[in-house]
Amino acid sequence: IGYVGSTDGADAVDVVLDGLARLEYRGYDSAGLAVPTPSMTVHKTEGELSALEAAVPRGEHAGERVGIGHTRWSTHGAPSDVNAHPHSDDEGRVSVVHNGIIENYQRLRDDLAAAGVEFRSETDTEVVPHLIGRYLDRGADPEEAFRLAIDQLEGSYAIAAVFDGAETVYAARKDSPLVVGLGDDGTYLASDVPAFVEHTDRVRYVEDDEFVRLTGDGAVVTDSEGGIVDREPETVSWDADDVGKGGYDHYMLKEIREQPTALRQCLRGRIDELDGTVALEDIADLDHSGPVQFVACGTSYHAALFGAERLRAAGVSAQAFLASEYTRERVPVDSDTLVVGVTQSGETADTLRALRAADGAGATTLAVTNTVASSAARECDHALYIRAGPEIGVAATKTFASQQLALALLAFELGGEATRAELEAIRDVPGHVQTVLETTTATEIAEAYVDADAYFFVGRGYHYPVALEGALKMKEITYKHAEGFAAGELKHGPLALVSENTPVFAVVTGDDEAARKTIGNVKEVEARDAPVVAITDGVSDVARYADHVLEIPAVDDLGASVLANVQLQLVAYRVANQLGRSIDKPRHLAKSVTVE
Ligand code: G6P
Repeated sequence: IGYVGSTDGADAVDVVLDGLARLEYRGYDSAGLAVPTPSMTVHKTEGELSALEAAVPRGEHAGERVGIGHTRWSTHGAPSDVNAHPHSDDEGRVSVVHNGIIENYQRLRDDLAAAGVEFRSETDTEVVPHLIGRYLDRGADPEEAFRLAIDQLEGSYAIAAVFDGAETVYAARKDSPLVVGLGDDGTYLASDVPAFVEHTDRVRYVEDDEFVRLTGDGAVVTDSEGGIVDREPETVSWDADDVGKGGYDHYMLKEIREQPTALRQCLRGRIDELDGTVALEDIADLDHSGPVQFVACGTSYHAALFGAERLRAAGVSAQAFLASEYTRERVPVDSDTLVVGVTQSGETADTLRALRAADGAGATTLAVTNTVASSAARECDHALYIRAGPEIGVAATKTFASQQLALALLAFELGGEATRAELEAIRDVPGHVQTVLETTTATEIAEAYVDADAYFFVGRGYHYPVALEGALKMKEITYKHAEGFAAGELKHGPLALVSENTPVFAVVTGDDEAARKTIGNVKEVEARDAPVVAITDGVSDVARYADHVLEIPAVDDLGASVLANVQLQLVAYRVANQLGRSIDKPRHLAKSVTVE
């Protein structure tokens, strides 16, 4: 958040701290703010916002009308005071806050370090104030220096900067949200409207490659050439109490809809289609050619099943285990084994215990996690981040999709060469997810089956973990009986449960042997009067045997499993919503389970 008050504006520290509190839902591990007048002052702390509030001497900043603030969700460097934003140049001439990932930061950092800059933090962001400082040294004015520095950046960013003694905030955006608020008592800038909606509902959304100069009287938006962008402000109708959910009824729906962005963030900078290579910088020093074992719980276990299958397809021996069973199963493990803990939070006790056992047996360990510097990330030999952004809803959604793609990338990394077609297919997944979100008929399906006795889910291959995950989502948030099966297992028992009140969701894509066999299973179900919902790309004729269809674009198996899962997330959400369940906090469940 940034703020420049008009002549009778409020104290910037109050506006910034309130704004950060309004953005708390985005999740954070540290927070900070900078007040540039009368001279640059920066406060930052690890942990809760209350720690920052306690650390800021408000009296000292009374009457100061300019400020920027930030809550951090780590992508580079552990949560700590020093890694918290704002970051400044050596002389405190400029302070910067940043959301996103600067992909070329290592090269920029090396160049700056070679020129004598001493870095204080481990963040990618810290290159920005130093770059700005370098242009100031060369005589550029603040705005020029800011623009020249931004021009050097590759990656995603919403950046705001303040300069020592100046009553202006400069900002720029690329692939990371940024919005200006135009109020009577000053001008606001934030990554999301809730940060300032209590002060003003007149907003201007900043587009990619645009720059903003914020003063107490308003904001000037310019394009990359410096030309003025004239866009009328919009009026938003958000209730200040409805913050956080960004206008959605539940975090879960918001997070389902964030999946295209989350997946793009997961892939960013990791695929080089021209070279046909995958580069996972996080695990650049992992060199492994032996067998792979996955350990995980809940939704992450379903991602692990998917990852194991993907690795086997790439020619690597791989198996997935429930973390809570792993140590009891006497799984052979030695120094040739790579044990991968898949865990969104990085704090799940069962998964940590399995990883520790593997480490004790001499295995190499890898955490695939959404949480930088989590216990799993710190304790494992290596960590691969899925970069889904904070997930608040207890039922995992966007983190599952991001785990799927991260594990697909891992399979390329460990299994050798990827084809250009495979890489293009992965790159296109986020766009296809967007299509599914825009065209889904999940609400209709939910209405048709909200009173069902139970819900069954079947699939083969990559779609088997999707069936398990579809059922888990349904039971978690609707409290109704739901089960997922490998499609071939239906006839070995579960078929006895099937009736006209138990819809069967069948994931069938393509028209290969697996699809044809699953269609055979669908016919068995249909013959026993159970309604069938086919999740299909329309390539096979499964729709002929189905009562309803949830359509997905025709893509390869991997992409299809991501897309089919998005449809099932939406069905579970819509059923739970119609039943009036506590969707974001289902009874008896916790987001992170730190007991075994
Ligand atoms: C809890 C959550 C599940 C989650 C599981 C594993 O049980 O309710 O949604 O899948 O933990 O969490 P992790 O953080 O290890 O992925």
